[in-house]
Amino acid sequence: MTIKITGTGSTLPEKKVTNFDLQELVETSDEWIRERTGIAERRISTGDTVATLSAKACSKALEMAGKTAEEVDLILVATCSPEMLLPCCACQVQDIIGASNAAAFDLNAACSGFLFALNTAYVYMQAGIYKNALVIGSEVLSKLVDWSDRGTCVLFGDGAGAAFVEASAEDIFRDNGRKVGMECMVQGSDGTKGMVLSCAERSVDNAFIAEKQTISPYIQMNGQEVYKFATRQVPACIHEALDKAGITVEDVDMFVLHQANVRIIESVAKRLKADISKFPMNLDKIGNMSSATIPVLLDELNRGGRIQGGDRIVMSGFGAGLTYGATVIVW
Ligand code: ACO
Repeated sequence: MTIKITGTGSTLPEKKVTNFDLQELVETSDEWIRERTGIAERRISTGDTVATLSAKACSKALEMAGKTAEEVDLILVATCSPEMLLPCCACQVQDIIGASNAAAFDLNAACSGFLFALNTAYVYMQAGIYKNALVIGSEVLSKLVDWSDRGTCVLFGDGAGAAFVEASAEDIFRDNGRKVGMECMVQGSDGTKGMVLSCAERSVDNAFIAEKQTISPYIQMNGQEVYKFATRQVPACIHEALDKAGITVEDVDMFVLHQANVRIIESVAKRLKADISKFPMNLDKIGNMSSATIPVLLDELNRGGRIQGGDRIVMSGFGAGLTYGATVIVW
């Protein structure tokens, strides 16, 4: 059994917010933000929700795959910023696009979410339960950001990306002899470091608890701890994935990493001893969109003709949880 990504789609809110715009809100500078993160601007939703962004990305992915919404078996939305606890975002997407035959649920692994969702879809297909899936990473992080906290508000943006994944009973071989599909996946979590990057859900007002518990609903981050975690864990889990697949860094055409920070990506490239040209980036224009960064970049590369059949791609995500993962696929 082989799985193929036969369609990709993405969408970004129209409103651009530059570093210069942020200078009006907090004590920061374009120079500081660019130097430390590589980000110049990000998109901020002024009306779109995680579900509406997801639905737009899904429609594009389905169009590319030549499928209708009724043909979709499974919808998985990876998000850490849903507007609604109930119903889940995936069910809202099902309703908007009219995927009446799909099972739908959400999954939260923060910035690793898209990969965890892709891996979940893969095992469902491997087990023969579903033939296809829409796998989505979608976030409206702008509502989780404290816009008076310069340590975090400069980092994040909003957007969504989707991939339509299909199972194929026949093995498909590309001209370079590589077999299409997922070669291997590695995923892991370290809950002991969870509070390094956190966001509480809401204050508790329970009739059976005397004191109302008021909590901050905004993202809290220890940036240096996240940086250390990412630069150590990402190369380690990519190496683990490559070892499992029986290949080396040289056998990889492209590393599609979670777009958190240019310095993290450069450090990973250096530790892997891989050429930085194999690490496409788009975070300068859209910032860190957590679970949406990998599928949005994948769609950009796919539509831009930068991914060819037979290319071997390593996708790697890392983020709150703490969570991390790497997946090796042949396109
Ligand atoms: N503008 C100007 N100054 C700032 C800003 C800002 N936006 N933010 C913080 N500072 C100041 C701090 O107040 C501090 O000032 P002080 O020395 O007077 O106290 C100084 O800059 C240094 O602060 P640090 O937090 O030590 O800055 P650091 O060099 O660590 O850079 C950064 C911060 C960019 C967040 C870095 O830690 C990093 O890249 N961490 C990775 C975290 C990340 O990418 N998170 C994204 C979300 S998580 C994920 O997607 C996996």
